[in-house]
Amino acid sequence: MTMRPLIAGNWKMNLDRAAGTTLARELAGAVASASAFEMVVCPPAPYLLAVAEELAGSPVALGGQDCHTAASGAHTGDVSAPMLSDLGCTYVIVGHSERRADHGETDAVVRAKAEAARAAGLVPIVCVGETEAQRDAGTTLDIVGRQVVDSVPDGLDGATLVVAYEPVWAIGTGRTPTVDDVAAVHAHIRGVLSAKTADAAAVRILYGGSVKSSNAVELLAVANVDGALVGGASLKTADFLAIARSV
Ligand code: PGA
Repeated sequence: MTMRPLIAGNWKMNLDRAAGTTLARELAGAVASASAFEMVVCPPAPYLLAVAEELAGSPVALGGQDCHTAASGAHTGDVSAPMLSDLGCTYVIVGHSERRADHGETDAVVRAKAEAARAAGLVPIVCVGETEAQRDAGTTLDIVGRQVVDSVPDGLDGATLVVAYEPVWAIGTGRTPTVDDVAAVHAHIRGVLSAKTADAAAVRILYGGSVKSSNAVELLAVANVDGALVGGASLKTADFLAIARSV
């Protein structure tokens, strides 16, 4: 099996229903099933169903931005993995640094969310990444390696797991690590994953943090970079398509 790069759009808490459905319709119309990349969009939860309707019949996949660790129950305001699956999602982002920072999510919680996603048949996109202080202290590989060990469930494979490396300081800032730094972290993640799965070579490891059309060719060409997790530049059809076509 050759690995197909995954281009994931994380809309975060942006767009409204009209803008989201327009974006989804334009992407669905532009992406062919035979393309060199796989695309997934992760809209805000209230718009999942409307976006799912626009994507029906297209190869563009749907993902959630988060899920609860439980399948159902008394958790006001939360969304479960089976609910995402019910709406047509096939992916869900877990452990994004904004969730870790804003909602105090620990590696153990992220791992439980990834396990809940798998139990519901979803592919978790497990996010890891160091802060600027951690990078300055020279601890990036230790921090990211520890996050992978503690956040990623054991025994998954290339069809059931995606990992995203997103340096916290690169998200939404316009700053990116050097290609050498990205290569070093992605190689380290691949090595750490090999202790968790016999299929580490087939697990897609995405780079995220200020990916845009002007740097996508360079970043996607780095060894062990198997796609991109894109925030701001996934909100405009032309920008997101240009990133995908960089594959
Ligand atoms: P950005 O966000 O592309 O806007 O930097 C990436 C992310 O947080 O997933």
